[in-house]
Amino acid sequence: MKVSIALLMLCCLSLTDGQTEVQEENCKLNIWNEVRDVRDMVVELRVKLDMVMNDNSRLNERMKVSETQLEELKRENAEQTKVAFSADLGIRGHLGPQTNAITLAFNNVLTNIGNNYNPETGLFTAPVKGVYYFRFTICGIQINKSTGANLYKNGKNIVSVGQWLHHDQHRYASNGAVLQLEVGDVVCMKLLPGYTIYDSKDNLSTFSGFLIYPI
Ligand SMILES: *[C@@H]1O[C@H](CO)[C@@H](O)[C@H](O)[C@H]1NC(C)=O
Ligand SMILES: *[C@@H]1O[C@H](CO)[C@@H](O)[C@H](O)[C@H]1NC(C)=O
Repeated sequence: MKVSIALLMLCCLSLTDGQTEVQEENCKLNIWNEVRDVRDMVVELRVKLDMVMNDNSRLNERMKVSETQLEELKRENAEQTKVAFSADLGIRGHLGPQTNAITLAFNNVLTNIGNNYNPETGLFTAPVKGVYYFRFTICGIQINKSTGANLYKNGKNIVSVGQWLHHDQHRYASNGAVLQLEVGDVVCMKLLPGYTIYDSKDNLSTFSGFLIYPI
């Protein structure tokens, strides 16, 4: 645009000596047309620029909101109680069968984040209200005996597992449950009368649990 105006002006300048007035008028008209076009374009560009700037400030607003949300999520995540444990029974050989049910103290702790599992007593105590997952694997090798164990919540049997051993090879039984717990609820594993459990340095009989999410 600038170039064409410059060219037109040059043309008009060169016309001044010895050209007719009509030609001069035509040339001026062309310049004005060009100037008007330039003005229109400037107006159009200004409108577009306004739009772009509006969009930009809206995006900035949204980015600020997202950043705030991200910070909140980070803080929530950092504040959230972390709960996870895994423990192996820690004995070398058999336990049971006995005449009374006993709470199994899995004392070879592999992980105990939050220290909510007590390896001395075998009791897990929920630190927050939430949804938790527990699972266990029980090994047995005593011939003509039952192996198995039961998961208890506040003294109430929740899930069980057991099998009869026809021969003296390692046999495994496992079960698990998602439980909704209140603060202070107690979860543990029990060996019922008549059942046996076996463990070795290979950590064959284990009990694990973790908080899926607090509620
Ligand atoms: C296991 O039980 C079977 C069948 O009752 C019997 O024949 C076998 O002798 C028993 N084995 C042992 C080691 O007690
Ligand atoms: C059993 O658990 C202990 C941790 O107490 C670990 O050091 C060891 O390597 C484990 N044994 C096997 C066979 O995984």
